[in-house]
Amino acid sequence: MLELKFLGEQMFFCTECGGETSKWSGKCPHCSAWNSLKETTKVVGKKKKNQPKDHTQVAKAIKLNEINITQKIRIKTGIGEFDGTLGGGIVPGMVVLIGGEPGVGKSTLMLQSANEIAKSGKKVLYVSGEESREQIGLRGKRLMCDAEHLYLLCSTEVNDVFKALSEVEPELVVIDSIQSVYTDGIDNAPGSISQLRECTAIFTRMAKQNNIPFFLIGHVTKDGAVAGPKIIEHMVDTVLYFEGEQQKQFKILRATKNRFGSTNEIGIFQMQTDGLTEVADPSEIFFNREDNSTGTAIGCVIEGSRAFLVEVQALVANANYGNSQRVALGFDHRKLALQLALIDKNLGLDLKNNDVFVNLIGGIKVAEPSVDLATVAAILSSFKDMALPEGTILIGEVGLNGEVRPVSQSEKRIKEARKLGYANIIISSRTKNIPDNIKVTKVKHIRQLFPILFN
Ligand code: TYD
Ligand code: MG
Repeated sequence: MLELKFLGEQMFFCTECGGETSKWSGKCPHCSAWNSLKETTKVVGKKKKNQPKDHTQVAKAIKLNEINITQKIRIKTGIGEFDGTLGGGIVPGMVVLIGGEPGVGKSTLMLQSANEIAKSGKKVLYVSGEESREQIGLRGKRLMCDAEHLYLLCSTEVNDVFKALSEVEPELVVIDSIQSVYTDGIDNAPGSISQLRECTAIFTRMAKQNNIPFFLIGHVTKDGAVAGPKIIEHMVDTVLYFEGEQQKQFKILRATKNRFGSTNEIGIFQMQTDGLTEVADPSEIFFNREDNSTGTAIGCVIEGSRAFLVEVQALVANANYGNSQRVALGFDHRKLALQLALIDKNLGLDLKNNDVFVNLIGGIKVAEPSVDLATVAAILSSFKDMALPEGTILIGEVGLNGEVRPVSQSEKRIKEARKLGYANIIISSRTKNIPDNIKVTKVKHIRQLFPILFN
């Protein structure tokens, strides 16, 4: 099918951005990363000489609006969260890179999806270069993957994939992982930059020529000895990263590049003994409050196109051992320092002899400012040792003067809060688009919080 001849050429690749250069230097000329250039052999396909030019194939400029678009039918994985992240399903011929740290659940996710697709009657080829047949068989049993059309190939050689491709004729291929496969046209070991690039190029060609989607699993590695998935990001259509610490039960699948959809969507999963299950209602995990305890406040964040509630917990305690500590888990510690300064200046609370710990429940990390107000309220609640009124939720950014600022998509957040039974919604007085039928409490400044919360 494919005939590749290789020529070697010494090159340097940046392990951070994948940029090439012919000369070593301490700093990458493309992304300015230090000490990231690694020597490798660049592989180039042999040039075809003296071939008459086929003039019917000459590239010609045409009008954009004259391009014939045949609507491609997307293949559904049967896992809603996964389809959503892909932008509505798999497009034939697309190449998807699934990156993530070892142990996050990439193989589990792909085996489950492969099984679901195979169940719908499509042949799926799962290529594993990481685990033995028995290991995958055992996992398959545990995950109840028993679809008739699911084929397994345990090999690390690209040529074996070729062979299996023509034998099985699958409609979808999973390569687990791209770092474990090699092509014998290159001397370097599997996982090296040149192998990674060449194997990706070969699989991409296979995908486009045969119109079969390919999923490439890639491990995120911190050192440059084994190249990370960053290096091949530009070669694939879609890049998904699977995040979540091993101990944490929930995992987030996030698109960072998508040629066939938006990158706003995320998929949320939970790892259980029988594999990954979808979390359609994220408020369930990040927030499951039974009692109204002191030091907790509820906020609402937006991830992708969904709003969900998060619980902020604060602990203000006497600092008995010299310097007081400030610890923020789930958001930037500088933000905590800023909020403590605001509380000191505007509310006159002296916290310099107190340790302050703030934590977002469920292990979620939040970068958006909408939880500022909830964080301030949680700290006040712990300091006063008084719980917030039943059914209170706080949505707003706190500015450097202590003013409460509106946040994006307030309407969506208010509706989510309402849906979960929160009647006391505290938001910035400058918020627009508040739904008519929902009563809210508007605040201008954090000074107003005390009477509202602890009266
Ligand atoms: P795995 O999919 O092998 O991760 P990756 O391919 O990203 O390296 O699985 C990750 C972890 O998930 C593994 O350490 C065990 C755990 N796990 C479960 O808790 N339940 C399950 O059903 C499976 C298959 C794995
Ligand atoms: Mg794996």
